[in-house]
Amino acid sequence: MKFYITTAIDYVNAQAHIGHTLEKVQADALARYHRLKGDDVFFLTGTDEHGIKIVRSAEKAGKSVRDFVDINAKAFQDLWGSLNISNDYFIRTTNKTRHWPVVRKVWAQLVANDDIYKKAYEGLYCAGHEAFVTNKDLNKDGICEMHGAAPELIKEENYFFKLSKYTKQIEKAIKSGEFKIEPKTRENEILKLLERGLEDVSFSRPRKTLKWGIPVPRDSSQTIYVWADALTNYISALGWGTSSNAKFKKYWPADVHVVGKDILRFHAAIWPGMLLSLGLPLPKKLFVHGFINIDGMKISKSLGNVVDPRDIVKEYSSTSSPQAGADALRWYLLAEIPPAKDGDYSKDKFEARYNADLALGLGNLLARIVSLGEKYLDKPLASELPSTAQKELDRRWKAYEKFMDNFKFSEAIKEAQALIGYADKRINDTKLWVLAREDEKKFKEVISEVATILANISSMLAPVIPQTSEEIFKQLGIKHESKRAWRFEMKKGESLFPRLE
Ligand code: ME8
Ligand code: MG
Repeated sequence: MKFYITTAIDYVNAQAHIGHTLEKVQADALARYHRLKGDDVFFLTGTDEHGIKIVRSAEKAGKSVRDFVDINAKAFQDLWGSLNISNDYFIRTTNKTRHWPVVRKVWAQLVANDDIYKKAYEGLYCAGHEAFVTNKDLNKDGICEMHGAAPELIKEENYFFKLSKYTKQIEKAIKSGEFKIEPKTRENEILKLLERGLEDVSFSRPRKTLKWGIPVPRDSSQTIYVWADALTNYISALGWGTSSNAKFKKYWPADVHVVGKDILRFHAAIWPGMLLSLGLPLPKKLFVHGFINIDGMKISKSLGNVVDPRDIVKEYSSTSSPQAGADALRWYLLAEIPPAKDGDYSKDKFEARYNADLALGLGNLLARIVSLGEKYLDKPLASELPSTAQKELDRRWKAYEKFMDNFKFSEAIKEAQALIGYADKRINDTKLWVLAREDEKKFKEVISEVATILANISSMLAPVIPQTSEEIFKQLGIKHESKRAWRFEMKKGESLFPRLE
């Protein structure tokens, strides 16, 4: 089966923070999980590079906008590379061959469908949101709390998209399950909005106030609204409306768009509205994650509490365990943060997880097994499982798959951890280190059992900590004989996660 998964494309006005990282890691785990299931996966991420916010940040940085976005987009890509995000393509909205023509074609289609009209407009624009806001979005002092600034009053003539026209259709698609929104609380939030009816949205800005963007076809005095431009990435990356549209034909509709809670409305109202106008199928699912706070406080430059994911990766990696930093961060984001609710990052909690789950739990199990295996086994060992262990594995795999299918990463990880506990207990109960010297036959049975369980744990964790999973397979010396029959030729390697003091 095909599986098309996307993330939000990040604004390049600043460096990637841990919130952006959470989203990419969640999506990557899903993409990897589906690849392992045998699905034909297309995983898309990228950067959102137009709009007033970016122009202003470039000015502040004293750089040309072009240089500024190039440098920052590269920094995002490098970070995803170091975290082993396995995206199949990286879309940049400044890509004039792949992205621009598609956005302009979308615009032309909306016009042809009579869904674009011009009007004089007056409203409050929040650059942080890249959207017009209303008084309900502001606090009593007229400040947008999310972005810590007052919006600007703007009076101008621009183009509008007739979103109101699609209210009923969107509502129907959500209610019928054709377009699913998870979790349920987010679906309810949107249904409430739809009940009140959607309003038409401003879809362009005068070019004299915003040059950094895609010009409106046939009216170069206007720039296409940055959100209309950005949302289109999900189909421009697949070549919709161009002569190379094979990927579009194969992968659209998206199986899941992974986005954060602050951009729910754009994805659950404007985007489906655009697709309906284009006559295209709606995405099957929108998965909405929560926000990460740092030490209980919202991530904010002014609070100075931005932790740079690159520093975390560096700090916990070393030449003997080059994968430790990236995988420990992935682990934290998936095991600790509730996938669809707000979560928290703190160095203490990170290090506690690192030591308990990774150094002691997983790392220690591998070390126990391979040190005995390397020392006491003189030839490759065939995998073998007693029926109780087989039952335990089957039960855990079933639960694991159900959790992964429902984006419940931390629950899925707990299934793997339960197996770590099971294998540790087998080693302790049988005194495997004594058997090694005293009962060769029994030793071989038990070490084969726990190695087979560990190989299964490693398979379950492959979407979560891919490099560690490979290293486990390597140290177990796994040779595949058939689907789940293996041979082990163990060779102890470096410790996976050196214990932190
Ligand atoms: O919204 N915790 O870009 P963005 C978790 N360009 N997730 C967070 C977060 C946090 N503290 N802060 C932000 C945009 N995010 C648009 C998207 S898509 C067509 C265009 C998430 O850089 C946020 O919810 O502000 C969003 O999903 C993503 O990071 C990019 O945010
Ligand atoms: Mg944002």
